[in-house]
Amino acid sequence: MTATRGLEGVVASETSISSIIDDTLTYVGYGIDDLAEKASFEEVVYLLWHLKLPTKSELETFKQELADHMELPKEILDSFKTYPIGKVHPMAALRTAVSALALYDDEADAMDREANLRKAIRLQAKIPAIVAAFARVRKGLEPVAPRRDLGFAANFLYMLKEKEPEPIEVEAFNKALVLHADHELNASTFTARVCVATLSDIYSGVTAAIGALKGPLHGGANEQVMKMLTEIGSVDKVEDYLHEKFINKEKIMGFGHRVYRKGDPRAKHLKKMSEKLTELTGQRKYYDMSVKIEQIVTSEKGIPANVDFYSASVYHCLGIDHDLFTPIFAVSRISGWIAHILEQYANNRIIRPRAEYIGPGMRQYVPLEDR
Ligand code: SDX
Repeated sequence: MTATRGLEGVVASETSISSIIDDTLTYVGYGIDDLAEKASFEEVVYLLWHLKLPTKSELETFKQELADHMELPKEILDSFKTYPIGKVHPMAALRTAVSALALYDDEADAMDREANLRKAIRLQAKIPAIVAAFARVRKGLEPVAPRRDLGFAANFLYMLKEKEPEPIEVEAFNKALVLHADHELNASTFTARVCVATLSDIYSGVTAAIGALKGPLHGGANEQVMKMLTEIGSVDKVEDYLHEKFINKEKIMGFGHRVYRKGDPRAKHLKKMSEKLTELTGQRKYYDMSVKIEQIVTSEKGIPANVDFYSASVYHCLGIDHDLFTPIFAVSRISGWIAHILEQYANNRIIRPRAEYIGPGMRQYVPLEDR
């Protein structure tokens, strides 16, 4: 038995939810380019959970169900005030709050599909509310209740800023949510599947996935990209900054991918949106720096940009705090995690690979007095 580092190339399960074949991404057979340009995030969530696009009436009902379940239990809202403000990363707050949500859900441990679909709606609806409410409470602001007349993307921005977002902001955020919704067996999705394959509950699976997404090699990369852009500061400083990183053999955040080799098909949509929003908000330098970084890293290192690279400047232009970038990834990816959790439950077998033992050979116990 020889171990495959990071399970590279290992096919660990079958799925009907999303596919990455020859650098092409589809959700249940629909191309990501089509969905990014034409679909609402709510349509994509419905597609991932039911493996079909919703009809008009199914979509209207689904949108209403999400809006109806965005309110948070008072106990969760009050708990934010007990966190050591200023020291809690929003991803840690999200992981904690999602785990606590289960305590107030009477059917938290129910395992039938109907109960899990009801919990899925509650989780998908409450995650954006948790992110927005914590972001406000930590600044001494009151949480903003969701509005039933707003769609999912608009409601998040409204709950975050207490101002109805502009159409271009809703379009950009909806597109980012669609692009981040699912991605085959990425680390956080695989974490969710391993967790629920023991027949543990959906809240445990989502909490485990949030923990995995938090890391800078995965969902945490978008916040690190913004940190890099802020550190560099201007286009003329890009080259020296990168060459310093190359010399120190440091990873450039927002670049590389375990599966994509020619390039991440999602990046081009976010690049276009970054150009539009940086132009609109008079922050073109972030786009220009990003293009320069991409040009140098791809030409000198042959490593393409991934989904996290241009999403950073898009979220920055939407006026979102930089440490909320990864929680926003979770706001979208919970839809994929739930789809995979439902699929795992439907055809389950505990996930238990082997390890290649490289420790000491068999030896005798030595009594304490002889050590
Ligand atoms: C996401 O899996 C998914 O689908 C994830 C995701 C999703 O939608 O769920 O797409 C979202 O997580 C995107 C990735 C976000 N992370 C980052 O941007 C962090 C920076 N990227 C790297 O850490 C890395 O590219 C990974 C983690 C994305 C992939 O890691 P791998 O497949 O284990 O690649 P590796 O680290 O083994 O690198 C292979 C080589 C190495 O060079 P050598 O040591 O062989 O000489 O490529 C180099 C690496 O040093 N390399 C990089 C690099 N990424 C790889 N060098 C500089 N900068 C980078 N970003």
